[in-house]
Amino acid sequence: MVILGIDIGGSGVKGAPVDPVRGELLDERYRVPTPQPSDVSAVVEAVAEVASRFPGYDRVGLTFPGVVVDGVIRTAANVDRSWLAADARALFAQRLGRPVAVLNDADAAGVAEVAFGAGREQAGLAVMLTFGTGIGSALFLDGVLMPNTEFGHLELGGVDAEVRASDRAREQEDLSWERWAQRVQQYLRHLEMLLSPQLFIIGGGVSKKADRYFPLIDIRTPMVPAALLNNAGIIGAAVTAAQAAGHTGPLTVDAAHAGAYPG
Ligand code: BGC
Repeated sequence: MVILGIDIGGSGVKGAPVDPVRGELLDERYRVPTPQPSDVSAVVEAVAEVASRFPGYDRVGLTFPGVVVDGVIRTAANVDRSWLAADARALFAQRLGRPVAVLNDADAAGVAEVAFGAGREQAGLAVMLTFGTGIGSALFLDGVLMPNTEFGHLELGGVDAEVRASDRAREQEDLSWERWAQRVQQYLRHLEMLLSPQLFIIGGGVSKKADRYFPLIDIRTPMVPAALLNNAGIIGAAVTAAQAAGHTGPLTVDAAHAGAYPG
């Protein structure tokens, strides 16, 4: 069975066929820019364009940058509001003619990190955070995902945490690494206070530059950069689609929570 993973991001829609047992891409990934505005029909077409690069696939796993419950989009903080209440699973399944699983982007990245990357064999509570346009979060207890946590929208200093501490905030406000790290530290300490996790996994594009700001952050909880970098979302989406298809492997994520397409 060939499974495509497709990651819908703020700037690009990226996809590739994935080996969900090894957690590896089977081909070079293909990317198109995210349409602007990122309304439903334009994004569905962008996804179809990416998928058409890889003929012969059987199933698709998709990430979405918002809350996804049973395949239906519930929030759209950084994409066009036409997505609110859209049945993404049905829309993509109809357009692609294949079974589809849809899950939150940070949840997908976390699924990949927990299965194959920085969170492997982590017992207890692990929190994956992605710092990009927004802040995405994924919570795992003994490797099992609790989906749609949305910790990027915790209030920090009177505003949404992602408005102050995302990588976009760092770029837009032209913050030094020191100043940005202070904000991230404040945010992580707040999460520590609420959750007492055993591990933070830090993902998103900025995880590549961990050496610039990790040493500036003083928290109790161990903190590691994501290992799969740009491909975590694609891999996690494909793993979830494989699980929805009844694939049994050394994976612990509950696909039932990820809006898996029935049948
Ligand atoms: C959204 C999350 C998403 C994160 C990263 C936030 O604004 O609410 O659902 O995971 O951005 O894209």
